[in-house]
Amino acid sequence: MKFFIDTANIDEIKEANSMGMVDGVTTNPTLIAKEDGKFEDIIKQICEIVDGPISAEVISLVADGMVAEARKLAGIHKNIAVKIPMTIDGLKAVRTLSSEGIKTNVTLVFSPLQALMAAKAGATFVSPFVGRLDDLSQDGLILVEQIVEIYNNYAFDTEIIVASVRNPLHVLESAMMGADIATIPFNVLKKLAAHPMTDKGIQSFLDDWKKAKK
Ligand code: G3P
Repeated sequence: MKFFIDTANIDEIKEANSMGMVDGVTTNPTLIAKEDGKFEDIIKQICEIVDGPISAEVISLVADGMVAEARKLAGIHKNIAVKIPMTIDGLKAVRTLSSEGIKTNVTLVFSPLQALMAAKAGATFVSPFVGRLDDLSQDGLILVEQIVEIYNNYAFDTEIIVASVRNPLHVLESAMMGADIATIPFNVLKKLAAHPMTDKGIQSFLDDWKKAKK
């Protein structure tokens, strides 16, 4: 399973990358707005740090505008995957961009049929938002299970990025289901590595070492 990091924060990206846990990066307008730099400068910096797909999102709502923004973003670096919202215009844009060899990540996916359409349009990645479905008392992981099954039934190449990840269980269950990628916020990534028994074990080894003959 590939781990992407869901942030535009350069320090977090560098730290997670040094742990060997960054196969790619996803950003969105909200994550970009939290940082100081300009959008394109941040994306360029990320591309210099991480050798993997870097998602940058368009803001246009019409197909022509999305395509124009996407071509510009794709020109920044070969690893850019252009995030396109899951709308009718988004599907049109994905179809065009796919024929031009520009990588796309269809975002804001909340139903299995939206994911099926994204794959048919030729999306490189599809991003189901599990946490935001959980927020509505709908099990977001069921959506991931449905997309995995549909994509397997028809051998689609589109890779599933489990997005809106809020806790370690989202990552665990997605891995068990065979989702290709989880895009993980930095705070959740750190939680994956932690276990109280590990901390307790380290402490007791350190205490005993003080008593050992050296
Ligand atoms: O990058 C898209 C997605 O991961 C956003 O997550 O927490 O804002 O629902 P969240």
